[in-house]
Amino acid sequence: MRSLVMDKRNILIGVSGGIAVYKVAYLIRLYKKNNFNVKVVMSENAAEFVSPVTFETLSENPVYMDTFKLNHNSEKNGFIPHIHLSDYADIFVLAPATANILGKIANGIADDILSTTAIALKRKIPKLIFPAMNINMYENPINQKNIEKLKNNGYKVFEPGEGELACGVEAKGRLIPEKDIFELTKKYLKKQKLKGKKILVTSGATIEPIDPVRYITNHSTGKMGNSLAKVCWSYGADVDLVSGRYGRKVSLINQYYVDKGEDMWRKIDNLISNKDYDYIIMASAVSDYKVNEIKKQKIKKKSKQLALKMEKTRDIIKSIKEKYDIPVIGFAAETENIKDNAKKKLKEKGLFAIVANDVSRDDIGFGSDENQCTIIMEDKIIETDKLSKYEIAEQIVSVIEGGEK
Ligand SMILES: Cc1cc2nc3c(=O)[nH]c(=O)nc-3n(C[C@H](O)[C@H](O)[C@H](O)COP(=O)(O)O)c2cc1C
Repeated sequence: MRSLVMDKRNILIGVSGGIAVYKVAYLIRLYKKNNFNVKVVMSENAAEFVSPVTFETLSENPVYMDTFKLNHNSEKNGFIPHIHLSDYADIFVLAPATANILGKIANGIADDILSTTAIALKRKIPKLIFPAMNINMYENPINQKNIEKLKNNGYKVFEPGEGELACGVEAKGRLIPEKDIFELTKKYLKKQKLKGKKILVTSGATIEPIDPVRYITNHSTGKMGNSLAKVCWSYGADVDLVSGRYGRKVSLINQYYVDKGEDMWRKIDNLISNKDYDYIIMASAVSDYKVNEIKKQKIKKKSKQLALKMEKTRDIIKSIKEKYDIPVIGFAAETENIKDNAKKKLKEKGLFAIVANDVSRDDIGFGSDENQCTIIMEDKIIETDKLSKYEIAEQIVSVIEGGEK
């Protein structure tokens, strides 16, 4: 299997003077922990909020704050800081971005080290901008025009998060969480192999009610499906994720929660009728049976035994196949005759590929962080090693990249 190690690892963080500057310290730690190299260029106003010493220590590099003076004793005469930084950067991350710096970059103003560097950056590198400011500043039409202009010129400008702002109001304007900035950085350092592709992913367990307090479910936690959604997203695909009610939230992805298998089908049907998906990855564990009749009142603990009459739930893959012509990747969670059962399912359901795994093993599958599986296609079988679910997801997604519909 291909190595997925990225060789571009030089991150240049631009810091302008907003209240969220302190969050950059956590962001640098996250990059460093994941073996990225970091340099910081900051405005003088940003240094009013946090001393450059903090960023220098965490990044293990000099911090650049001056256009004309040497910033560090390792720099020789003739060293031009903004050109050095432009040569260094594989990616530029401007966080937090003030209204001021947005205006400057959008209008070609280069009057300090931060704005000069931002304008001197190489055309082809990704430039990610994370505005954070008071809601009135953010919504100011001039600020909005500047953002639009930046977007039209290849800058990726992300909407700020909502929540309590430093000025005390609940509104849009917060710097988005550093782990999201980190995920976005990784995404834009990767080749966007699935750009233009639309992919629908399902994850987690459905729940079939018995009465108002009880239900039938299974051990699926949604980790495999969530990893698949994240990998597709990181390769630039437009991803929608439909998850069982107790599935974990996956940041930065359109995620919809459903309860019953029938709700999952309805959501899928609704999404497909509004979007032309290229692939559907069904990694959710849909309950095979539901009770015939959901009791309106809680069943009392009276008799020694209780029999529930059950019926099969809808076969969602079959319903998709009957109504739409979209390649589907399915999963086979098996406890015996794994490959044979999976091959049978691939044929019977007309799947594009099936991912079979042994859920009887304690060390992989349900709830575990790792998995080992066999990816079966009509003409090809891929046996994976025991890997993290994210790495397994990368292997499954490679089938989409290489596959013809
Ligand atoms: C306490 C305080 C907090 C501020 N927070 C922000 C902010 O979050 N976003 C913003 O755009 N401006 C904020 N400002 C205003 C900027 O600091 C100001 O516009 C400054 O000129 C920006 O300079 P720079 O873009 O060169 O760093 C704040 C000012 C103060 C005094």
